[in-house]
Amino acid sequence: MNDAKQKLIFALDVDTLDEARSWVELLHNQVGVFKIGKQLFTKCGPEVVKLVQEGGADVFLDLKYHDIPNTVAMAGLEALRLGVKIFNVHALGGFEMMARLVEAVDAACPRGNPDRPLLLAVTVLTSSNDETLRGIGIDRPVAEMVPRLAKLAKDAGMDGVVASPKEVGLIRDACGENFAIVTPGVRPSFASQDDQKRVMTPGDALRAGADYLVIGRPISAAADPAVAARMILEEMQAALDS
Ligand code: C5P
Repeated sequence: MNDAKQKLIFALDVDTLDEARSWVELLHNQVGVFKIGKQLFTKCGPEVVKLVQEGGADVFLDLKYHDIPNTVAMAGLEALRLGVKIFNVHALGGFEMMARLVEAVDAACPRGNPDRPLLLAVTVLTSSNDETLRGIGIDRPVAEMVPRLAKLAKDAGMDGVVASPKEVGLIRDACGENFAIVTPGVRPSFASQDDQKRVMTPGDALRAGADYLVIGRPISAAADPAVAARMILEEMQAALDS
């Protein structure tokens, strides 16, 4: 189950250190990576990163940097110093922004170093549709922009993307096998869909080619979260073994 555990990312969508600590204590045997987003990081800062690491798990720092190239490169170096396993930027920041980040991380922590984080790009947020893109002057549809931005990220040297499970095929076609795909929007058959519209089960998402799954409420809202996480892990492991 260790393979599956390292591919399961729990969305730590809470806003206090105490709640974060409780989740890490409860789930660190099942979950390899905890995702810290803007709210929790803005409230609690690097202390919450340390808390997860001291609890025996890795961190996905989900801050989606998007700024001038130098600023993103410098922020990325700070994420590297925090020892996070994964962090991300918006591919819409452009080729140079991503390439400068990769160059800075390469210089501080070369590829192959076990401490090197996975550098991910967000293509198009799943909350955006074709109309949202038109509103910001992009006339191409989401289905065209997602593989295009994924390829741009790959060409800039990024390690992978965050994407809806339904977009995995398009991204694999554009970027090939050696490119990580992290997917939220995953719902095991026992859980509610909540506000996620385009969902897949954990097994189907892995079989479709996802490398990591981000899962929040199917675990946090379950009657017994540790049991829910264990059931998800079993489903993931079965897909990995098939
Ligand atoms: O509770 P749930 O499993 O829906 O949580 C998924 C996590 O992934 C949340 O932290 C959510 O913000 C994040 N996310 C998402 N869809 C995206 C990108 C991130 O659900 N496209």
